[in-house]
Amino acid sequence: MTLELEKYLKVRMAQAQGARTIEELKGISDIAIENEEEVKDVEELLKNACKCKNVSIETVVEAVKNGADTVEKVGEVTKAGTGCGKCKGIISNIVENKR
Ligand code: FES
Repeated sequence: MTLELEKYLKVRMAQAQGARTIEELKGISDIAIENEEEVKDVEELLKNACKCKNVSIETVVEAVKNGADTVEKVGEVTKAGTGCGKCKGIISNIVENKR
């Protein structure tokens, strides 16, 4: 992952607003994705919900579909959000939208 901090944060903020694909990301953010390496980095990041505990979006969505209807319950089931807590906005968005 070589994505610069500003772009990393833009992706994370857009994820908390519901972006799950590069297309959705571009619809929300003014992020400029410059080359193939950045595309790969952004795609990888878009699949991740929680960096600290290395939990994927897919795992969180699965937990929500199985009944975890709060950020805390998602944390109990997946450990997502139980480290630094910075990903709680993303988890909360997944809880709301079930995706
Ligand atoms: S990124 Fe999820 S707890 Fe730190």
